Amino acid sequence: MIYLNGKFMPIEEAYIPVLDRGFIFGDGVYEVIPVYSRKPFRLTNHLNRLQHSLDGIRLRNPLSNEEWQNLLEQVIAKNEGEDQYLYLHITRGVAKRDHAFPANVPPTVFIMSNPLLPPPAELLVSGAAAITSSDNRWIRCDVKAISLLPNVLLRQLAVDVHALETILIRDGFLTEGAASNIFVVKDNVLLAPPKSHLMLPGITYDVVLELAAANRIPHEIREISEAEIRTADEILLTSSTKEIMPITSLDNKPVGNGKPGAMFTQLHALYQQYKATDMRGHPSGTASR
Ligand code: PDD
Repeated sequence: MIYLNGKFMPIEEAYIPVLDRGFIFGDGVYEVIPVYSRKPFRLTNHLNRLQHSLDGIRLRNPLSNEEWQNLLEQVIAKNEGEDQYLYLHITRGVAKRDHAFPANVPPTVFIMSNPLLPPPAELLVSGAAAITSSDNRWIRCDVKAISLLPNVLLRQLAVDVHALETILIRDGFLTEGAASNIFVVKDNVLLAPPKSHLMLPGITYDVVLELAAANRIPHEIREISEAEIRTADEILLTSSTKEIMPITSLDNKPVGNGKPGAMFTQLHALYQQYKATDMRGHPSGTASR
């Protein structure tokens, strides 16, 4: 069951007019929220990022955080599975095709839920392959825009060579993955690129950095050069749907010794522990409580 503009319905019955600005211009924003044991993970953080994206495209938030929470809980209840991921999508509505914003047009609001499957166990044991490419996206990557054509093309470069992700480099420095954030480990220090308009501020990225701080794992938030990526001891990938994964090959060369490393093993365990605590209903907030 999905939610579309005030109604719940089976996805097969959900249609939008062809003049929806999401369809015509990619004029909208979205969120992906993991749900564990039927409880949205880090909901406030996701709703805050949604507000940042809406502000970034000058679209008024149609709902309050309480209304979003209520709606999302209904979608979760109407779908099967303890673990799900919510996809939430808002466009500037339906109007005659014109680049300028339409006046007084209600936004289109769509929410669906899909089963959330953990990353395949064998990929956690052997690690995944990634390739690099230059980051040719726009320079508001902090906005979670539905216009994802560059990300789609960049991800497909990885799929074409049976790799999991494309790691993006802009002006000689790491930004993120086509649909993930990327960390590098060198000499037992976890390195994270600083948040800026050139990357999506990942919710999982925040959790990982909070876990590192709370557990005294040496970490630095700073620009990471292409050379540092290529000589990394470990590379880690994070996203709401993939959690935390080890990248053990980059452009067909092994990363470090070519196996998931100690930093991955420690952070993955901490992440699973943190998720379990969160699911037991402790207030979701910071990982350092
Ligand atoms: N993508 N960077 C980009 C470009 C992303 O698309 C994503 C997530 C992330 C990770 O953010 P988070 O940890 O908040 O999921 C970083 C989602 C999962 C998607 O588009 O399906």
